[in-house]
Amino acid sequence: MSIHTPKIEKKVTLSTIAQMKGVEPITMVTAYDALFAQLFDKEVEMILVGDSLNMSFFGKEDTLSATMDQMIYHTQAVCNGASSALVVFDMPFGSYTSVQKAIESATRCYQETQAQAVKIEGGKERAYIVEALTQNSIAVLGHIGLMPQYVRADGGYKVRGKDQADIDSLVEDAIALEKAGAFAIVVEGVKSEASKAITETIRIPTIGIGAGNATDGQVLVWSDMFGFFEAFTPKFVKQYMDGATQIREGMQHYRDEVKGREFPSEAYTY
Ligand code: KIV
Repeated sequence: MSIHTPKIEKKVTLSTIAQMKGVEPITMVTAYDALFAQLFDKEVEMILVGDSLNMSFFGKEDTLSATMDQMIYHTQAVCNGASSALVVFDMPFGSYTSVQKAIESATRCYQETQAQAVKIEGGKERAYIVEALTQNSIAVLGHIGLMPQYVRADGGYKVRGKDQADIDSLVEDAIALEKAGAFAIVVEGVKSEASKAITETIRIPTIGIGAGNATDGQVLVWSDMFGFFEAFTPKFVKQYMDGATQIREGMQHYRDEVKGREFPSEAYTY
């Protein structure tokens, strides 16, 4: 049976997140607009404006064509709806290919939105970018394991941490990002032994997605967890409601009533 936990009324800061490691699991979810950010605010500690919006809301096959303009617009909307949750801006593919480009992109994010941090995909090979950002007062959430922005280069979405060599490599990634100043790390699509090893090695929190139950927190894409995204459902997604069915049933009800001249009745008429 699940426990009923209180709403998160206080403004969540980077130090709130740091202090939660080993004390209380961190909850994070994606949001892409003010309407849903307002619904999710106070229910979770962190909201990620993920580039997954390019798939679930823009209808593309992967996240790679998401742009800075698109991410800025959606992050502004989310920040208009969220008052307590810590909002993280997902840096789109191609926006952090060099130190200079990463600083320009992240500076634009801080200047044009109220997001408190940016997220970057990549392990040890990208630690120098994370370091340059954190040295320039930009908070960074790392992202290792299965990295959706690597899908074309990797030839698909591949679960990581299946053998000791890969677990060791993931732990090295996490250590490099911690040293570079990341405040937390998303660990996606890895075997639970790997995420446990990472979580036990580093002092900053790990936020898992498809990474088992040993991480310091969890993140899900909201349209997946509420059953709105039907193209595919990964094994790790628990559906907390059947959104697509409920929307279709509601819409069918509306259509039936309009066509049957039941809606609008007197009660809905001036
Ligand atoms: O874009 C996104 O929603 C993400 C999550 C899957 C962590 O990066």
